[in-house]
Amino acid sequence: MARDKAAQLKALERQVRNAADLPLYAYRKENEYQAVVGEGSPEARVMFIGEAPGKQEALKGRPFVGSAGRMLDGLLESIGLARGDAYITNILKDRPPENRAPQPKEIEAYTPYLRKQIEIIQPRVIVTLGRFAMDFILGEFRMPEQGQKISDLHGRPLKAKASFGSLIVLPLFHPAFALYRRDQKETLEKDFQALKAYV
Ligand code: URA
Repeated sequence: MARDKAAQLKALERQVRNAADLPLYAYRKENEYQAVVGEGSPEARVMFIGEAPGKQEALKGRPFVGSAGRMLDGLLESIGLARGDAYITNILKDRPPENRAPQPKEIEAYTPYLRKQIEIIQPRVIVTLGRFAMDFILGEFRMPEQGQKISDLHGRPLKAKASFGSLIVLPLFHPAFALYRRDQKETLEKDFQALKAYV
């Protein structure tokens, strides 16, 4: 089963790398960037979903390896969750120019791959990092909290129902937000503790 999940994720990675119809594919190639599909354990109980790769991520082909990634690493350590035991991915699998916010058409084009990742991994907990991931997941699972703001929902474990069973969705602020704001960092650190019950 584990081999099966790993093989399915590998196949999905290949698909994303070769999907020339993706809206940011040409930009990826022009800049010699890599697609950032996701990484971690195929058996992860906890899945993190960010917004889109930044420059460091696109150069290395790995999610959350720049400054926001260092913040995430510290948060993971604070609850004793090894990075390799979780699965980390993003809404977009390519870096948008100048790190601008994902556009609706881009979200539409990339999220079928995210949907597939969720189906393969079947996590018990999905942690959304930032507003874009939260909005997508609330809509995806038709959750009653749809349309609510991240400032109201952050740090609250929410119940959701997926095709493979029930799961918890934990909306968090994006770690990049907390880089330069002490109050945001404290909020994120506090919110992160809610995850302890699930690791
Ligand atoms: N920000 C994100 O949302 N994702 C990354 O992978 C890096 C920074």
